[in-house]
Amino acid sequence: MRQLIAGNWKMNGLDASLAEIEALARMLAAKPVRCDVLICPPATLISRAVGRCGGGIQIGGQDCHADISGAFTGDISAEMLRDAGATAVIVGHSERRQYHGETDAIVAAKAKAAWRAGLTAIICIGETLPEREAGKAEQVCKMQLSGSVPRGATSENTTIAYEPVWAIGTGKTPTNAEIEAMHRHIRSCLGSPLRILYGGSVKPSNAKEILALPEVGGALVGGASLKASDFITIVEASHAGA
Ligand code: PGA
Repeated sequence: MRQLIAGNWKMNGLDASLAEIEALARMLAAKPVRCDVLICPPATLISRAVGRCGGGIQIGGQDCHADISGAFTGDISAEMLRDAGATAVIVGHSERRQYHGETDAIVAAKAKAAWRAGLTAIICIGETLPEREAGKAEQVCKMQLSGSVPRGATSENTTIAYEPVWAIGTGKTPTNAEIEAMHRHIRSCLGSPLRILYGGSVKPSNAKEILALPEVGGALVGGASLKASDFITIVEASHAGA
């Protein structure tokens, strides 16, 4: 399976930031890579990003509501993301779980909404530091997988992102052995051969070793996705293997 390098801009990006997507598109056109490349800008920029990214980059959303439409002020449906030109959507990011109280059941409903709209759901899971220190990381991730990944997930419609909460935006990462062990564990919990991304402080300096680990199907990148020059280094560190 091709690796996927996905950028999550979070609540960052104005019109001027689209220059980074254009720069990335130019770099990819000059030096084609073997992985899939996705950028998830804020929803306000999706359609403009689609218009400016050329064919080599896919554009995705960072969250969606489970319903198609209705009285949900401020929310955005998967159909709206699709209509704006998105091909994927992140669901269940730990920041959504933490700041918006999203449960596994809500995340599963959002993943189904993504499928309904024809989007790939990138379903995020990951343990907190106290959970890891208590030796419960594998158990927590197993529970999140069983609650957040709906029946019917295939490699076409679903990607898993393992993001230890304590590694997000902190500069800290698990050891390579810990990443490998968790990815093997996630693989053993899944019924179908889904792509499993690693996320949490992936940067140009550590991308190559992380992306070379068995069962790592790509990366979900936050901070280092905001600058095309950093992100392209991570994209170039990916490989075509499993
Ligand atoms: P980070 O974020 O790369 O800035 O740690 C990753 C994420 O939250 O997806």
